[in-house]
This record gives sequence, C-alpha cells and structure tokens, in this order.
Amino acid sequence: MPDVRSGVGEEPGDRPSAWWHGTVGYEIYIRSFQDSDGDGVGDLEGIRRRLPYLAELGIDLVWITPFYPSPQADHGYDVADYVDVDPTFGDLADLDRVVSDCHDLGMRLVIDLVPNHSSSEHPWFRAALAGDPHYRDHYVWADPAPDGGPPNNWVSNFGGPAWTLDERSGQYYMHLFLPEQPDLNWANPAVHDEFDRILRFWFERGVDGVRIDVAHSLTEDPQLRDNPRRAALPPAGAAPSEVWDAYEHRFDQDQADVLDVFRRWNALAAEHDAFLVGEVYLLEPDLLTRYVADQDGLHSSFAFPALRTAWDAGDIRTTLGACVTAGAGALSWPLSSHDDPHAASRFGGGDRGRRRQLAYLTLLCALPGIPFLFQGDELGLENGVVAAGHAADPMAVRNPGAAGRDGSRTPMVWEPGPGFGFTTGEPWLPFGSNRRDEDTVAAQLQQPDSHLDRTRRLLALRRELAPCWDDGASVTWLEATEDVVALQRGDTLVALNAGETAARVRLPDAGRWHPRYASSGGIPEVADGAVVVAPDAAVLLVTASPSAS
Ligand code: GLC
Repeated sequence: MPDVRSGVGEEPGDRPSAWWHGTVGYEIYIRSFQDSDGDGVGDLEGIRRRLPYLAELGIDLVWITPFYPSPQADHGYDVADYVDVDPTFGDLADLDRVVSDCHDLGMRLVIDLVPNHSSSEHPWFRAALAGDPHYRDHYVWADPAPDGGPPNNWVSNFGGPAWTLDERSGQYYMHLFLPEQPDLNWANPAVHDEFDRILRFWFERGVDGVRIDVAHSLTEDPQLRDNPRRAALPPAGAAPSEVWDAYEHRFDQDQADVLDVFRRWNALAAEHDAFLVGEVYLLEPDLLTRYVADQDGLHSSFAFPALRTAWDAGDIRTTLGACVTAGAGALSWPLSSHDDPHAASRFGGGDRGRRRQLAYLTLLCALPGIPFLFQGDELGLENGVVAAGHAADPMAVRNPGAAGRDGSRTPMVWEPGPGFGFTTGEPWLPFGSNRRDEDTVAAQLQQPDSHLDRTRRLLALRRELAPCWDDGASVTWLEATEDVVALQRGDTLVALNAGETAARVRLPDAGRWHPRYASSGGIPEVADGAVVVAPDAAVLLVTASPSAS
C-alpha cells in the first residue's frame, strides 16, 4: 500500500491578491469554436452565443486566439493590423459585445497579442520593403554571409532557415516562423511605442488581459551569433522540430533583455488592472522563473513542461514539482492547446485516455496558478483524425510527413448532426473521422455522469476551495509509491493513481480527510486510514467540509 508521508513544502510566493488568482481559464481557438454565419469558420458572434455555456461550465477567464485582420498564413498568428478585427471573425462592435457579455456573466476576456512578428502584409513591413528607414528598423535585417547565404545558422520553427532574402535591398530579414511572419525588432524603441499604443487600445476597450505569443523570443542576440549545435543535424526532409532540437537556442530566444519589455507592460497593465500571461515555450522548468518570479514582469506564464508528462507518477511528480518550484505560484497549467495534442490523446486515447485526462486535470486544479482547458477538453475529446489531403496547418502543409497541429484544431462538436452545431456550411477543417454524436455537448448534457458533468463538478469544487488556497497555501508533495502521485495544499489533498490496479493510499492524520471528488468511479470512503484510488483516476479530499458531493 502506498505510504503517504509529508514531503517538502514549496512556497508559492508572497503575492498581493489579484483578480486572476484562483481562476480557471479556457482557450478558444476562434476558427473552430462556433460559426454564426455559415461560412464554415468560427467567429466572435459565435463565441458570444456560447459564453453562457462557458460560465455554466465554471470558467472565469476566456482566452481567444487571434481575430485580427490577417492573410491567415498561420491562421491568424500573422497579424496585418493589431487594432482591428478580420471580417471573417466580425468587427470591433462584435468584440465589444463579447467583452460586455463576458463581464455580465462574471468572466474575464484575454486576447492574444502577437508581438514577436507581424504579417508580411502589415503596412509596417510593406513600408520596410519599400525602403522607408523608419519602418525598416521595425524588423531584423542582416547582410548575407560571405557566401551569399543566410547571415547565421538560425532555423525557423516551421522548417528551413530563419532568414529570407529581400532581393531589392540585398539583405535578409529574420523570421522564427514563416517567411510571411517577419520578426519585429525589439531593440528599436519605436516598436515598444507601437505596442504601448496597441495594449492601451485594447485595455481601454475593456479587454482584461493578453496572452503574449512566443513571449520568450521577442529579443535576440544583437550580434546575431550562430547557435551552438547540440546534436548532429537530422537528414534532409526531417521534421522541423528535429532540426530545431539539434541546436542549443542560446542566441535566438530567452535573452536577458526580454524582461525589459514585460516590466514596461506590467506598469501599463497596472493602470487597467489587466493580466499578462506569456507563452514562454521553454521546456526546462528553471528557465520559467525569471519571467514570473519578480512581480514586475509577467503575471503568469504557461508551464509547457506540463504538456509533456508521460502517464507515469514519477514523471508527473518530478515535472510538475519542478514547475511549481520555478513558478513562484504564478504559472498557468495548460491541459492541451491549439499547438499540442488534446490530453486525452496524449494519455493513450479511448476511454482510458479520457479518464487519465480528467485525473490529470484534478491534479492541475490543486496547483498554485491557473489551470487552462482547451476547447473540447471538457468533453474529453481526443484529437480529430484529419486525412493528410485536408491538412491546413502550415507546419504540415509545408513539411509533408511532419505531424501538424490540425488534430487539436478540428471544430467543436455541439450537437449531433452533419455540422455538429458548429456550422450550417462546410467546416474549414474536417471535424475528424473519429467524432461521434455521443461526444457532443448536447449528448453529454443528457448523460448524468458524462465527462462534461464530471469536469463541471470539478471546476465547481475548485471555485469553492480557491479561497482557502489564495492565502499562499504551499504545495506539499506527499511521498507515495511508483504509481501514485499525491499532494497536499492547505485543507486539500489530491492523490492520482497512474497504475494499472487500484491503489490504497494511506493518509496523513487520516481522521481529518473527507473525500469530495473522484475523477472516475464513485467517491470512495476513507477506511482504515486510507483511501482507495481507482486506476487512471484521482481523488480529491478536504479537511474543511464533511459533506460529500
Ligand atoms: C505560437 C502560437 C502558434 C503559432 C506561433 C507563431 O506558438 O501558439 O500557434 O504558430 O506562435 O505565431
């Protein structure tokens, strides 16, 4: 039997209370959430109509992926105007309605800010190409290497070099993503001024915060030095991620001066009580610390290591534990995202993958910081199966054979029927050949013990418990067995069983604990100082209230 004893406490840090503490977030991938006009692409009015659903689910904070005017080379992460709405998604009045309905429902709205790069169609870049010196310096330019090739060995996340030649000027411009996404030059004070204006524009419209795209990569080495190689380069035709991983990214990301940007934004956000959460896509937990540890930088950073854990108690404990230590109470915990597989798929798919996903969410809900669901996670959705001929993600389209991100981006399934209540038209991306009527929101609402129902109960419990965690209650990882990971935080205890068989978990001061939630099966009793946790499940216990729910 697992013997649960007290481990080492980890302080979440001494932070003044802010509205985002104790919240639960939800990511909406706008193209795939709800279409309101039959063009097969989701839009702001569609989102507005579904806000009551999210409020009912127990969401506090809604993050919407980019809706700005964009050629959609990277599905909106290529912005051609930072202060408007693409007609595909509606207009500014639609956005204002989303903001006000969110607030009426007691939720907050976070929008996606893309400051690392603009679209090559942005007027700034067009002016830069035309040789306007003011706008030329908005981007990163360099002369060719002596052999006429790219200035250094940096590579693009989407394959190929991170440099494209501008024939007219004979210089290369830098792009960590597509050539259609030129990197902005954050060494130029004029770029800082542009983004101050952009942030003010949105905060004054009532937007409650921004999710900062590629936050760790805004600045780069001023000397543009080559990145050291850490492994042999893979053969030609390898996936871009394999090429990327062959380098140590010493000079093209995570530079010391990136924090200067966030300090400035922190002061600006404070004027509007707005929230800054960064996409700091660094997989070594220690590297997250400096982005969030001082209270004058980002308010929160996504903890991407949490998206990589195997279904293994040791790995979960080590990875999440290292993040908690690094994150000073200020991390956001993604369950899935539009860039990563749905957790139900990552954990093996089928019923087992779904059960594990909810067990994992139960654990994330007990950590200091903000758990974030990605649309469809509340239904236990796996990745949609999209045939190669329908690939839409530039990663897959431009690198045949590379795993793209379409599987997590397939449209939401609201109700049975040909358009699954998402659209009356032809969806821009197939739903996935594995989507079934019983997956839908409407079907799960009819079923008392559905994934949706259990997720909702979990989030309701988290909301109830948030006040007892808000006062800095630290995480104590409890020593358990190979298969069990358990933690205590304030008056709560969560035990997750990643093993194949039920685990009896002995509790410290057993008489104090009352089980309140089980991610699958019935809520177990505490008997003989222990609680039985089913395989692929988590149980949450509290000391405060004896009432089971
Ligand atoms: C971020 C976004 C991703 C996008 C990339 C380039 O990682 O989440 O979807 O492709 O930035 O903007």
